Order: sequence, then structure tokens, then C-alpha cells
Amino acid sequence: MIQRPRGTRDFLPDEMEKRRFYENTLRHTAKTFGFREIATPIFEESELFILRSGPNVLNELYAFKDKGDREIALRPEMTAPAIRMFVNEMSNDPKPIKIFYFGQCFRYERPQSGRYREFFQFGAELIGNANAYTDAEVIAMASSMIEALGLKEYKIRIGHIGVLRQKITEAGVPAERMAEVLQKLDKKLYDEARPLMQEMGVSESVIDSIFDLTETVGDSSVLSKVPGEAGDHLRQIVEILNAMGINDLEIDLGVVRGLDYYTGMVFEAEAPSLGAEKQICGGGSYTLSELFGGEKVFSTGFAIGFDRILLAMEKEGQTYQPEGIAAYVVPVTDDVRVKSSEIVASLRRAGISADIDLMGRKMQKAMKYASSAGVKYTVIVGPKELEEGCVTVRDMSTGEQQTVKVDELLSAIRN
Ligand code: HAM
Repeated sequence: MIQRPRGTRDFLPDEMEKRRFYENTLRHTAKTFGFREIATPIFEESELFILRSGPNVLNELYAFKDKGDREIALRPEMTAPAIRMFVNEMSNDPKPIKIFYFGQCFRYERPQSGRYREFFQFGAELIGNANAYTDAEVIAMASSMIEALGLKEYKIRIGHIGVLRQKITEAGVPAERMAEVLQKLDKKLYDEARPLMQEMGVSESVIDSIFDLTETVGDSSVLSKVPGEAGDHLRQIVEILNAMGINDLEIDLGVVRGLDYYTGMVFEAEAPSLGAEKQICGGGSYTLSELFGGEKVFSTGFAIGFDRILLAMEKEGQTYQPEGIAAYVVPVTDDVRVKSSEIVASLRRAGISADIDLMGRKMQKAMKYASSAGVKYTVIVGPKELEEGCVTVRDMSTGEQQTVKVDELLSAIRN
């Protein structure tokens, strides 16, 4: 047997129905915020992802040469593709541009629970301005989406990467080595961050003050410790979010974010039930358009890890009941099969999900199949009833049977 590639999953019909349902919940919420859906290719020129993150990013990508010798990569995320699309197609459109997307991303990671090589993101980008209102709008949408899905245990942490970047720059860390330091701080690897900064000539006391900053966590009262414009900016975001009815927020200046394009506000949401892979959403404000040949435009966005948030909902005991098939038509004898096909077709034309026995099963086996397939009503087509223009409808949950005229079957099932 051929197995699927490592880090990928198959989605069976029940799972797929559930995923579509929740995907549409997210779509609906995005639309209530005035965002519109886009789609970009699953593969892009590798350059798109290298431009910001450097060639090392290739180690984390599914990258290859196509037959025309072009360097291609499967997208590891959708912010860079969305901004490329904006620069190519939408740069003259009135701002702000509010777009959202859903689709699979690929990262060459070590697979584990909640970490896949193919995974799905639901994300959004607000392009055109960066102020406390645009930042709050994006956080509010992420929060509303998590609420709409019905997840109970989660935390949203808001920080400001500008504060940390400035502090690290003032400490004398060269710009080209900033990402290295931030990566260690992102993972709270202080034992590795310290020698790294020592080697760059940063003093012990300054290193300690950088660590202190990343440990500045709490409710909005900790903002009194955040200096200057960044502190004011975060205070304003919190005020706007509170006015929008979003109160359960944590300030955390240790939110660094793995991707290195953020410039200002950054935020993450986590579901503690997930353990190591608990981050269900991440985002922040950034500028990328100028890197892709456009004008410099400020943007803010986020992406929800769709697979992870579904896992967290499952852990909380949230279940989804698949809709199943409304009607299943069972011909009792072979000579009523053609008529049965006519009946199933009329149900389908009326928009009812309807199936018909295609395996030539006898009555009893057909009923057994119907109950295991989660069918709501079986429509039993027998030669005798048919002579009087009737069929028998059986409610599979109660076992009740009722004889109805074929031309009243539609309304009988609808009712
Ligand atoms: P990210 O934090 O790299 O941000 O990914 C967003 C979310 O995708 C994560 O919080 C996580 O839930 C999920 N995720 C990431 N990697 C995996 C994986 N291997 N398996 C399962 N889930 C995963 C971004 O991608 C940014 N583009 C978000 C953004 C949009 N920032 C601004 N706009």
C-alpha cells in the first residue's frame, strides 16, 4: 500500500463536512467585518519568501526547480503572497483594502500533534494604514472568530516588537544579527541568547534589562512600564478593544513572533489545552509591499491555524453532528428500480440530499445500510403500493412508517 507523505493528512467525509462548516463560520465572521475573500496560487517563485527572510528560509520550505528551471516554493504562509497580489493587482484600489483567505500552507517541519507539513490557515490582511484603530480592528476580528467557533479556553497576548527591536538596537546588536537574537527570545531560550549577545559586546546589565522587557506580562496596567509612543499606541489599542467589548486581553512584551517582517504591534492567541503546539493564531503590523516592488504601505494581519483550533475545540469536548443524507430510496423488487430512479431524481431536483440503493441489496440489508449511513428517511418503493401511486416513508430515528402519495413525497419529507 502506498502511504500519504509524512506530515500530511487525509480528511474523510465526516471530518470534511465538519471542516467546511467551521471554515464557513470563519468566512461569515470575516464578512461581518467588511473583509473580502481572495485566493492566490499554492506555489510561488521562491524569491517571494527569500526576499524578507533570507536564503535560510529555504530549509523550511518545499522548494524545487520546475521543468522551465524556475525556482518554485509551496507557500509556507499567505501574507507574502497576499501582499504580492496587492502590489501586482490592487495597489491603486481605495484603501484600506480588507482581504481574507483560507487555504493550505506547507512547511518542512518535524511533524507532531498540531504540527504538520501541510496545514491550513485562515488569515486576513488590512492594507493601507497602521494606527491603533487598524490594529484593534484586526485583533477584534481574530477574537470574534475564535468566539464564533465556540472555543472557551484561550488567551490573546498583545505586544509591540518595535519596543524590543529598539532596545536591542540601542544595546549595540548589529541590524543584520537582529533576527538571530529575536529568534532566541521568541522561544525564551535565554541561555542561548545571553552568550550570543555577549559575543556582540552587550553588557550583562543590558542583557538583563532586555530579558526583563520580554518578561513584562500582565493586564493593561503593565503598560505604565512601556516607554514612549509604543506604550501610548498599545494603551489606545486596549481602549478601542474594550469599547468593542473585547476585554480579556493580556499585554506581553515577550511576544516576538517567528516571522521577521513585523514592525509594530504583534499578537498571538493560544489554547492551553494544546500543550507544546498551543499557538492557534498569530499576527501583527508590518510593511512588505516595498520589498515586492510596490510603494511602502503599512498593513496589519493575522492567521488562525485552522487545524490547531479545531484540535483545541475537540479537546474541550465540542462535537459536530454531520448532516447525513435526508432520503434513501430502496426499491423492493427489480421491476420498480427505474421508477425508484425517477423518484430519487425528483427529490434531488427539489434540493433534498437523496440517495438510492446501487448495490442491489435486499430490503433488510438496505435498511441496515441506511441506519449505519445516518439516513433520516428511507423511501421504500414496493410494487403493490406503487400501483396505487404510493410509497412508504420510514423515519429512521423513530421507526415510524407512513404511506404517502408519490406526488406528496416531497412535502412529506420536507415536513
Ligand atoms: P504564523 O504564526 O507562522 O504566522 O502562523 C499562523 C498560525 O498557523 C500559527 O499560529 C499556527 O496556529 C499555525 N501553524 C503554523 N505552522 C503550523 C504547522 N506546521 N502545523 C499546523 N499549524 C501551523 C503567519 O503565518 C503569518 N502569515 C500571520 C500573519 C498574517 N501575520 C500578518 N498577517
